[in-house]
Amino acid sequence: MEIDIDIDVRDDMPGQAPAARTTGTTLLEVTDLAVEFRTDDGTVRAVEGLSYRVEAGRTLALVGESGCGKSVSSLAVMGLLPATAHVTRGEVRYRGTDLLTLPRTKHRAYCGQHVAMVFQDALAALNPVHTVGYQLTESLRARAGLSRREARRRAVELLDLVKVPNARQRVNEYPHQFSGGMRQRVMIASALAMDPDVLIADEPTTALDVTVQAQVLHLLAEIQAERNMGLVLITHDLGVVAGVADDVTVMYAGRAVEQSPVRDLYAAPAHPYTRALLRSVPRLGVDDDAGRGRLPVVPGRPPSPGRVPSGCPFHPRCDVARASSGGAGVEGGDGVRDVCRTDRPPLLEVAPGRSSACHFAAELLGGDRA
Ligand SMILES: Nc1ncnc2c1ncn2[C@@H]1O[C@H](COP(=O)(O)OP(=O)(O)OP(=O)(O)O)[C@@H](O)[C@H]1O
Ligand code: SF4
Ligand SMILES: [Mg+2]
Repeated sequence: MEIDIDIDVRDDMPGQAPAARTTGTTLLEVTDLAVEFRTDDGTVRAVEGLSYRVEAGRTLALVGESGCGKSVSSLAVMGLLPATAHVTRGEVRYRGTDLLTLPRTKHRAYCGQHVAMVFQDALAALNPVHTVGYQLTESLRARAGLSRREARRRAVELLDLVKVPNARQRVNEYPHQFSGGMRQRVMIASALAMDPDVLIADEPTTALDVTVQAQVLHLLAEIQAERNMGLVLITHDLGVVAGVADDVTVMYAGRAVEQSPVRDLYAAPAHPYTRALLRSVPRLGVDDDAGRGRLPVVPGRPPSPGRVPSGCPFHPRCDVARASSGGAGVEGGDGVRDVCRTDRPPLLEVAPGRSSACHFAAELLGGDRA
């Protein structure tokens, strides 16, 4: 069944139709975003100066270990932060308009129409007592003012779009009748209901087994390409992004530490943290231990936002900071180069289109990948 989602939805949407999605058009630009939580134990800086850009027709992967600020930064983009969280600086421009200058309700309405998010706990978000069709049509009716019949037709189209088989029948079924992978497809369908320009998918495959992960990622990539959307794919697993992302932003302790086209990043990471993450990605046919859990993980633990180390936040875990030969820097008593312990490295361009927040990025790019 051929579906022309763009025409259907845009005709029905209130207000102006969005501008065309010409490949390369900047849709979303996040600049110097900082978010903090005010808690009983003090202020927690969850995001600290994050910048990235999402273009039509491209996929940006936001990658990093648990707690690095992937979800909080995305909720800030959507205007959906909890009451204890505050954006303390930065801009979130959608097609040039800074959403952070809008009243919160307007910010959310803007996002409801143009920037959609598949939430990290999406699988739990489906209400077990309502049919999948009801849940898809409910939001459509509320947001786009569609009649019951139109909304239902649209719900079937959306299920078709995300390749749920027998959509006409399945629209009448309950979430428990869907497998985990199919439920995730329903959540993606729900996010696509308003034909967004940008889709932020927060760990869309983490709860799924490996085969289903691949199918869901393939589906997202296909939809993104067909519709020339901007896609932000959030994951803690660099292995996941290899086949689907164009660009990668690696986050650590609320900051971007490397930004690069995906191909360059895999060929030669420009930050020791990226290099460590890559070492933990199984290589088919190379890592015989891949299925037995014996691949190296990044040693140590990421810092909690309230206890970010001085200097480079990664220095307690960094093997390059302890390198004894070559390059600038003086070793301190703990074997860590002084500059790593004392000076916070800014995110700087280290090659065309590539940035790294490491004092020794040039050295890394000049040397061999470990
Ligand atoms: N409600 C909250 N109150 C206080 N701090 C919070 C709250 N929610 C998140 N944080 C802090 O913000 C930081 C970033 O959280 P975030 O959920 O963005 O991490 P994440 O990168 O999405 O991790 P994960 O991969 O586990 O989903 C966390 O380290 C956490 O300490
Ligand atoms: S600045 Fe130093 S501690 Fe930080 S990543 Fe680079 S080498 Fe490692
Ligand atoms: Mg998260």
